[in-house]
Amino acid sequence: MKFPFLSKRPACRGSILAAALIGLAIPAAVLAQGSAAAKPDLKRGQEIASSICAACHGADGNSTIAANPKLSGQDAAYLLKQLNDYARPTSDKGARVNSIMTGILGSISEADRLHVAAYYAGQPHKPGAARNRDTLELGQRVFRAGVPERGVPACSGCHSPSGAGIPSQYPRLAGQHAEYTIAQLKAFHDGTRRNNLPMTQIAARLTEAEVNAVADYVAGLR
Ligand code: HEC
Ligand code: HEC
Repeated sequence: MKFPFLSKRPACRGSILAAALIGLAIPAAVLAQGSAAAKPDLKRGQEIASSICAACHGADGNSTIAANPKLSGQDAAYLLKQLNDYARPTSDKGARVNSIMTGILGSISEADRLHVAAYYAGQPHKPGAARNRDTLELGQRVFRAGVPERGVPACSGCHSPSGAGIPSQYPRLAGQHAEYTIAQLKAFHDGTRRNNLPMTQIAARLTEAEVNAVADYVAGLR
């Protein structure tokens, strides 16, 4: 199966427009710097990835360690949002607390976050596999139909039937390490990840068996 949703769009049209609107009022040097920062520089992104991120996420974003998410083929705008959320873990606007990532982000400028997000988004995604035959049916049911009696909507309604996600609103789940997906559903539930209200509500209504089953199921989606 192909992944039709790989995003190649520039993420910051707004700031270019804003710069254009006030262009006459600001000195040329500032304007040049502003527009350079808004355009992803993939070479710079790769430099950051290989020097800082690769040890955990892989040079191509296909991490082989289950606790570290795969970043390859994920939507660039989603990745950038996560980096910004880790960088302000106590903000009301969208907190995501993780001591490793928050620590790293402290030394990475906003421009570099854009470059590295675009670099990883453009890397080919290596699929994963489900491991637990016994829970596949439950996982598929939760993914495709939700849990109507507890008000849980189908995951596929937002994350797309193939799990590839819908840029730029809904991230890819397909092929992600199950352990990481389980950790995120727990983090939404216990409040260490507070950057999306619908996900907090959904995670609160799932049983542990459903969480484990749906995480294993999406790991095998391609
Ligand atoms: C020491 C290991 C380590 C390093 C180095 C590291 N990360 Fe992470 N990263 C993690 C872990 C662990 C998580 C999951 C944290 C959580 O549960 O929220 C994560 C999560 C992420 C996420 C969230 C992914 C998602 O699907 O929501 C992004 C984006 C990310 N890292 C990007 C980066 C970038 C870019 C760099 C380099 C600048 C980097 N990471 C360096 C370990 C690392
Ligand atoms: C109403 C739309 C919606 C539904 C339904 C939904 N999600 Fe999400 N989900 C989102 C959004 C939006 C995000 C990204 C939040 C953010 O920006 O950090 C997300 C993020 C996630 C993440 C984090 C991904 C990562 O890489 O860290 C997981 C895991 C997840 N959802 C699992 C599920 C599961 C499992 C279901 C079904 C039980 C589900 N979602 C149903 C909207 C939805």
